[in-house]
Amino acid sequence: MTGSPELDAVIARFDPADPAFLADPYPALNAVREATPGFWNQRTGQWTITRFADVQETLRDRRLGRAYTHRYSHAEVGRPEPDPRWAAFHQHEQWSLLCLEPPDHTRIRRLVSKVFTPSAVARLRPAIEGFSGELLDRCADLGRFDLIRDYAQPYSVAVICSMLGVPREDTQLLLDWSHAIVKMYELATPEEQQVAANRAAAEYIAYTKELIATKRRAPDDLLVSELVRVEDEGDVLTEDEIVSTTMVLLEAGHEATVNTLGNGVRALMLHRGEWQRVVGGEVPAKVAVEEMLRWDAPLQLFERWVLEPGVEIAGQPLEVGQEVAMLFGAAERDPRRFDDPDRFDVGRGDSAHIAFGGGIHFCVGAPLARQELEVSLAGLAARFPGLHLDGTPEYLPNFVIRGLDGLRVEA
Ligand code: HEM
Repeated sequence: MTGSPELDAVIARFDPADPAFLADPYPALNAVREATPGFWNQRTGQWTITRFADVQETLRDRRLGRAYTHRYSHAEVGRPEPDPRWAAFHQHEQWSLLCLEPPDHTRIRRLVSKVFTPSAVARLRPAIEGFSGELLDRCADLGRFDLIRDYAQPYSVAVICSMLGVPREDTQLLLDWSHAIVKMYELATPEEQQVAANRAAAEYIAYTKELIATKRRAPDDLLVSELVRVEDEGDVLTEDEIVSTTMVLLEAGHEATVNTLGNGVRALMLHRGEWQRVVGGEVPAKVAVEEMLRWDAPLQLFERWVLEPGVEIAGQPLEVGQEVAMLFGAAERDPRRFDDPDRFDVGRGDSAHIAFGGGIHFCVGAPLARQELEVSLAGLAARFPGLHLDGTPEYLPNFVIRGLDGLRVEA
């Protein structure tokens, strides 16, 4: 409660439990951003910030971190111990880049980033075009298809599996595990989904350990083998670190890419003039994907813990152990940063949005994701210039990870 009934009413519109909010969160996100740069989310206890400049600054502020356990015990920051029922889930992410801070983060990120440099990713282009072309051929045969299930999911999993050296026939297994596990990152997860996520994490860990054993016996030149083999300036990765690293790449490596394609192609189908600008070649696919990333953010919220005293964000002094939530969807439509921000303008040509984050956790897979998106959009526009919606696409009932349940289209 802020003491102002008007402001409280605007803040109340930010309600990730409300299906109407999830279907189109932008009117509420815009309203809350214009009413205030920050508010306490009573349900989660998070100081929640709404504006681009504050989000960008917070992402880069080293006095905050994605984790606090490298500095403080749970008791010291007044947080409960992790629930032992979800031990496998916690184990799976323990050494994930997304749960680490320096120095462990620096050590593991240095190893992983080598594989994702723009030049390393450019070398993958022919293989990526091959996966895309193969799937688009199948879509052409179908005539009517679901862009998510028939194209985006098998495509992005094939790409990341081929980089890691994971057998392609395991794609469905990985997709099922990943979908179950990422439910844990929503603001509130029902218990049955937590049980399913933990089970999936346990199976995923067993699978990855087996994969590592296989690579030890028969190494190849792909990433998992590389991690097994690595001795970088004296660093050796433990098996648990390899398990978490492999798993975060598989998870992070496809969910957001699939959802960007789904959300972005939906936007193009609803803005025919913008689709025509891509089809006609006025706007290159490489440029248009930046607007797809900005306009309907596939990842709507990220969190940080305050690690140092004296931090103040969006006018609010914060104590060590308090949590900040950054509303990416609100920030990406901030008129202080983007002209006419609600307008979907494929020619905007602004790649300095925050879809890939900022600071030390900036998305290590951004060059790969951008290439995957560009190849897909160029392929779709060239093959199916008359592509249109077949029915009304529905969003999944999640907030943090925003994506469509399916995207039925007709060529
Ligand atoms: C459109 C697709 C993608 C989007 C929008 C996206 C977005 C993001 C964002 C916002 C972060 C930072 C999170 C934070 O600061 O709290 C991040 C981190 C990360 N992303 Fe991505 N990502 C995408 C694709 C990928 C791909 C294809 C990969 C891997 C192949 C990947 C791997 C990672 C990893 C490992 C991190 C953690 C980096 C670190 O903590 O140092 N992402 N991503």
